[in-house]
Amino acid sequence: MFKQTLVEATKAGAAEILRFFNGDFKISNKAGVNNLVTEADHAAEKAIMAVIKSQFPDHQLLAEESGEMIQDSAYKWIIDPIDGTVNFAHGIPLNCVSIGIEHNGEIIMGAVYNPHLDEFFFAEKGNGATLNDKPIAVSSETNAINSCLVTGFPYTYINMPNGPLEVFERFIRKGVPVRRLGSAAIDLCWVAAGRLDGFYEHKLEPWDSAAGKLMVEEAGGKVTDLEGNTFSIYQHRILATNGKIHDEMVKVINGGSL
Ligand code: IPD
Ligand code: CA
Ligand code: CA
Repeated sequence: MFKQTLVEATKAGAAEILRFFNGDFKISNKAGVNNLVTEADHAAEKAIMAVIKSQFPDHQLLAEESGEMIQDSAYKWIIDPIDGTVNFAHGIPLNCVSIGIEHNGEIIMGAVYNPHLDEFFFAEKGNGATLNDKPIAVSSETNAINSCLVTGFPYTYINMPNGPLEVFERFIRKGVPVRRLGSAAIDLCWVAAGRLDGFYEHKLEPWDSAAGKLMVEEAGGKVTDLEGNTFSIYQHRILATNGKIHDEMVKVINGGSL
């Protein structure tokens, strides 16, 4: 029942993404430089919420553009209508809808759909993760030095010890490829699918990580904060890997060398 609604809501959002992609749409700025929101983000979020509300009107919602709808329910749908908005605004086909369902504080189901590649990622707690209905698993790489990593940077740079550019530099100086795709949800799904071995970022929001965290875990990977401790989607700092390079990555992120 949840899955059907989740798929329907995700596809409804994606239809709006495709309707506006490479066309004319209004773009405005949120807090910070280049923290964009477009007409398509609002349209996609509206379409997604309409599907969820029609089937589960009493459930709570947390949506990036509309905020929180608090109700007396153990269920909360956590929605990013377009993850990768800057890519979207530039016509780069790396953006997606990301929706996670939380039950009593635990993510139980998630979907991430990139309509440009027609890639539908789905995960259910205890039941594995799939890409277009085929099971996926994290990579088997055991050394960080041989890995292909991915990261993202906040819209407003954070100056801090072991900040985004310092960690990036540490890996790059060792010759480790670190991609920057521009969509945290896709980053997480690509770790889940074994295309990438690890992902870290210093400032995510719940809607960026809700579905992707479950995807990585259900594909056999590991998700923690940047220190290697338990991660909650309400925290900003995330490290998601295939599990085998996790400790090495924690070391480098916190100032150690490879
Ligand atoms: C952003 C993307 C990006 C990440 C940012 C997020 P948005 O989400 O996931 O990859 O680096 O931290 O805010 O704004 O495109 O929904
Ligand atoms: Ca996002
Ligand atoms: Ca977004």
